[in-house]
Amino acid sequence: MGQKSLQSIAAAALAVLPFVNGQQPGSSTPEVHPQLPTWKCTTSGGCVQQQTSVVLDWNYRWIHTVNGSTSCTANGGVDKTLCPDEATCAQNCVIEGVDYTSAGITTSGSSLTLKQYVKGSNGQMNSVSPRAYLLGPDGNYEMLKLLGQELSFDVDLSTLPCGENGALYLSEMDKTGGRNEYNTGGANYGSGYCDAQCPVQTWMNGTLNTNGQGYCCNEMDILEANSRANAFTPHPCANGSCDKSGCGFNPYARGYTSYYGPGMTVDTSRPFTVVTQFVTNDGTTSGSLSQITRYYVQDGKKIPSAVSGGDTITASGCSSASSWGGLAGMGQALGRGMVLTFSIWNDASGYMNWLDSGSNGPCSSTEGNPSDILAKYPDTHVVFSNIRWGDIGSTVQTSGGNPGSGSSTTSASTKPAPTSTSTRATTTTKPSQPAQTHWGQCGGNGWQGPTQCQSPYTCKKQNDWYSQCL
Ligand SMILES: *[C@@H]1O[C@H](CO)[C@@H](O)[C@H](O)[C@H]1NC(C)=O
Ligand SMILES: *[C@@H]1O[C@H](CO)[C@@H](O)[C@H](O)[C@H]1NC(C)=O
Ligand SMILES: *[C@@H]1O[C@H](CO)[C@@H](O)[C@H](O)[C@H]1NC(C)=O
Repeated sequence: MGQKSLQSIAAAALAVLPFVNGQQPGSSTPEVHPQLPTWKCTTSGGCVQQQTSVVLDWNYRWIHTVNGSTSCTANGGVDKTLCPDEATCAQNCVIEGVDYTSAGITTSGSSLTLKQYVKGSNGQMNSVSPRAYLLGPDGNYEMLKLLGQELSFDVDLSTLPCGENGALYLSEMDKTGGRNEYNTGGANYGSGYCDAQCPVQTWMNGTLNTNGQGYCCNEMDILEANSRANAFTPHPCANGSCDKSGCGFNPYARGYTSYYGPGMTVDTSRPFTVVTQFVTNDGTTSGSLSQITRYYVQDGKKIPSAVSGGDTITASGCSSASSWGGLAGMGQALGRGMVLTFSIWNDASGYMNWLDSGSNGPCSSTEGNPSDILAKYPDTHVVFSNIRWGDIGSTVQTSGGNPGSGSSTTSASTKPAPTSTSTRATTTTKPSQPAQTHWGQCGGNGWQGPTQCQSPYTCKKQNDWYSQCL
């Protein structure tokens, strides 16, 4: 709250005008999303840059009274007097924008850094543990449709010790974040989170969760990792429950204990590229998901897989998930489109042993204690960069064969497409903006999304930072 003053007084005055109330955006802190360009790639056309950005999850934000600065949250939930139900809460409370640097999130070019700890105004290191989503240029989540496609990114996990988890994954959230009459910000304010652990949250799909329901949805963990261990794990859901443990792949747990780590085959003391392919039975983007394949690239070279023949999860290897639709069910969610999620976290109850200790990794059962991490590694952070997705074989350049062929012995020289100076075109285009939907944002300082509203709505200014389609 550093920059209060005339602006926030003016903003507070605006906030009481008789617009539609809701956990509508407040005006103390403008919501300015850090830009994070990504690339969509095709075999024929190369990679095209997209104007995407990141948005911090809704639960991390200050929700306060419309006319004052009294918090509308209490004891991990909402203040029952201000928020007995959705409509009353919407009248009484607004949700604020965030200062992304204080929230542990910064971007630079096409790279995103998430910090576990940030120094607060009191000089102490506070655990901020951010979770953020990839937002499209229209203020809705970017929906990645990865069935029969691949996803690649570069990652630097060198500062993540035992017990930390730098995660990049997909959740089948609503594209708008559950935007509605009361929650007009929606995805633009990071609402609507769900995952396969069926979390019980104060808000569910953008609405006050008055009966304490869990919110389950399909989740595909692309990378959950620190410098010592890593896993990728599908968690399909069906009929209101999910495969919470998942049928994942962790090279250490498969017996390849010297494959992944500092100085190992995948050398985690330096950045590397992670490629994940969602292969269908018929090779199309509408077939049944039959295999998920992982490979890594470092120093321009494809790294041999840990398992001979490729590091894969197959439909038969995922039979434990059959009551939730198995790998095919996961594939259907990937075909519908899922939201790209980034987080960094540690775990005071289990010390992340499921990822990196015992049979899962080389860490002791206690060294993931967050208080020890804070004492020894206060700067722990993860960097994700050059995120790109599209046709299998199109996101990473190779000069020695198709990286998707599954051969574990090629040492093809490969380069991430976006940074490559190869002949493949990497173009930047400004996509034409679709008209914004009812309640959505259509203007404001820093806004790069659509400025036109779908008929019959018109764009109405609420404050300097926020106009919406009403
Ligand atoms: C906010 O203040 C305005 C003007 O004083 C008043 O009309 C309105 O009822 C107040 N709203 C709430 C929720 O207190
Ligand atoms: C989430 O909210 C949106 C907007 O109201 C709605 O269209 C969608 O069906 C909801 N999704 C679920 C799973 O309830
Ligand atoms: C979910 O329930 C429907 C209706 O009972 C059933 O047809 C379907 O097979 C179930 N899905 C799974 C994956 O069990």
